[in-house]
Parts: sequence; structure tokens; C-alpha cells
Amino acid sequence: MSNEKVNSGLKDIVALRSNICRIDGQNGILEYRGYNIHDLALHSGFEEIAFLLLYEKLPNAEELEKFSQELAGRRELPNKIAELIKGLPEYTHPMVILRTAISYLGSLDDKLHDIGHNENLEKAKNLLAKIPTIVAYYHRIREGKAIVKPDASLGMAANFLYMMKGEKPSEIETRALETDLILHAEHSLNASTFSARIAASTLSDMYAGIVSATGVLMGSLHGGASQEVMKMLRELKGKSVGYIKEYIKTKLEKKEKIMGFGHRVYETADPRAEELLKLANELDRAKGNNWAAICQEIAEIVYNEKQIYPNVDFYAAAVYANLEIPDDFFISIFAIARIAGWTAHMMEQYQENKLIRPLAEYSGETNKRYIPIEER
Ligand code: COA
Repeated sequence: MSNEKVNSGLKDIVALRSNICRIDGQNGILEYRGYNIHDLALHSGFEEIAFLLLYEKLPNAEELEKFSQELAGRRELPNKIAELIKGLPEYTHPMVILRTAISYLGSLDDKLHDIGHNENLEKAKNLLAKIPTIVAYYHRIREGKAIVKPDASLGMAANFLYMMKGEKPSEIETRALETDLILHAEHSLNASTFSARIAASTLSDMYAGIVSATGVLMGSLHGGASQEVMKMLRELKGKSVGYIKEYIKTKLEKKEKIMGFGHRVYETADPRAEELLKLANELDRAKGNNWAAICQEIAEIVYNEKQIYPNVDFYAAAVYANLEIPDDFFISIFAIARIAGWTAHMMEQYQENKLIRPLAEYSGETNKRYIPIEER
């Protein structure tokens, strides 16, 4: 067989049909169920977006209130999960804590193996509500601080910041996280969502798919990029333009990736990055920081050197730094948002299922003579 048939990394392969998300990579357009991301970022809240993804329509005011209340009522963790988090070593990466706790949550669900649509909706709501609590609990435990119980009077974004820090966030902090969660909620067949759909395609349960997706998200070419971006921002903070130019050039010459740049689908600017830059600038102004300015300097140099654009993970790092989220928790925030998209995709997969099972072109030797062990 010839190599021409292999699409390395499944690049440009259309694997399935979906009604959830449209990306026009040439024109930099992103829509969730037909609604443009810029409109959603400007006008909606995260719970509204989660509803849109799960129920396939925008909620009216009454539906949104009911859904938000329902999620708020599910935020508390079973004691066993809190004990599990306390028992894991404190050097454990927050994403490892998260995938372990999600798996344990599954074992506590008496409908674990029921993959009916209504049962899956219940699981999706449970995961949406509880994942932020898992993340915040681990943060507090690791810091040696008392756990902050969820506050049902707060929306998801405000409550998460409250549980992380133990004090109510400001309006600008809440709005920044809310918008960030909206921008991260869904992105078609990215690697983690694909892994969740593969799990659904085998008729495995929703927790199995979400554990798989959290594992995949953690990689530095996917959601893990934001943590790496922060490492670079800290290294370049306070350095001259000349220094930054040299730093980028050297990396490119060595064929190293600049984290937070480039995208498999977007050939032009990532529309989410544009919104995140606005948020980072607003937060910088409110907090007296200059993370967005450093980011913009880097982005200009990278574009001039390599004509590639920042992706969602680049300015997200500047937003999280302003929100004083520890660097290794950045990916968890991505997961708090993307759970909406992951579960919507798994439900879509169950509804019109076909086992996902591509081929590999064999490139090893064939027809070899078997040598008995005593002769090797
Ligand atoms: N830094 C430097 N060069 C990059 C780059 C980056 N971040 N992203 C892409 N490129 C270059 C590649 O080196 C390659 O250049 P070449 O043709 O001169 O060899 C070209 O752009 C194509 O890149 P490739 O890695 O083949 O594209 P891909 O579609 O497989 O990769 C990513 C997409 C996201 C994996 C890639 O852009 C990347 O590694 N980015 C950094 C990690 C990141 O930010 N991930 C989050 C994505 S939302």
C-alpha cells in the first residue's frame, strides 16, 4: 500500500456529522448550535451556553433559572470524593486529581451503565455542577486552607472563584471567568472531544468518556498549552523587545513549538483569542498588571517570524494569571467549561451511533520466520 492514503493526525478527515459546533477555519468563524461566538461571549452566561449545548436550543428566562438552580443544587461532593481528594499526594497535578475523582464519581452513580438520553442528561448536569467543586477542593486542600462549601446563591463562575479563594469575586473577575468559560465550552472534534465520542461509540458510559477526555485535554499540544504559555510569560516578563525577539527566533530555529500559537483548523485568527485578549486587557487595567501587553508583544513577533496566530490558550493564560489561579490549575478551568461540549457530543454520538474505528497502514516487516526461543 502507498503512503499517500495516510492522513497523519487525521488532518482534514471528516469523521462524522454533528449539529453542535461549526468552525470556519478560513474565515475565523465559530458558532455553537448556529450562534456566533462573539454574540454569545457578549450577551450570554455560562449556564445558558451549557443549556444550549445539552438541550439544543437557547433557554427562555424560566428554563434558564430552573437549570441554573438545578446545577447549583448539585454542587456538593459526596464525602467519599472529598476524602479521596484529601488522600492523594499533594504533588499530584490537578488534572490527575480531576480524572481520578470523575472516575470515582462514576462508581458512586447507580445508573453508571445506563446510557439512555435522560440518564445521560442527569450525568452531564452532575458533572457540570461537581467538577468545579472537585477543582476548588483540591486547591484549598493543597494550600492547607479550609474547604469553602459551594454557595447556591452564586452563578457557576462566581461560585468557583469563591470556592477557590474564600471570598466573593468582584464583578469584573466574575464576568471575565464567565466569558472565558463560554469561549472554552465547545470546539467540535478537538482531540479530547474525539476521545469522548470514541468512548460513546463503543457504548461505554459517560464517565468513561469524560475520564478519557480529561486525560487527553491535559497534553501540552491541547489544553495543557496554557500552563506552558504561563511559563513563557513569566520568563519574558520585564524583558526587552530585543530579548523576546531573540527568544522566539531561537525557538523557531530549533523547530520548537511556541505554546499558545497555531491551530489545526484555524488558518486565520482564532475568534476566541480576540475575545480573551479583550478580557486580559480589562483585567490588567483593573489589577495593575501587564500580562496582556507582554502577550501582544510576543504575538506580534511570532506573527512576523512565522505568520501564525495565537490560539485560545495564549491569552487565557493572561486571564487566569490576573484571576490569581495557580498555573497548574489552568487546564482544570478548561475542563470546567469543556464538560458542556464533551457531554453534548457523547449524547449526540449515542443517538446516532457508529463505532469509531479507523485503520492504520502497516509499515513493519511481514512474513518473518518464527524463531523458537532457545535459538534466539
Ligand atoms: N510554534 C511554532 N511553529 C508552529 C506552531 C507553534 N506553536 N504551530 C504550528 N507551527 C508550524 C509548524 O512548525 C509547521 O511549520 P513548518 O511547515 O515550517 O514545518 C506548521 O506550522 C504546521 O504545524 P503542525 O504542527 O504540522 O500543525 P498541526 O495542525 O499538526 O498542529 C498544533 C496544530 C496546535 C498542535 C500546533 O500548532 C502546536 O503545537 N501549537 C502549540 C501548542 C498549542 O498551543 N496547543 C493548543 C492548541 S488550541
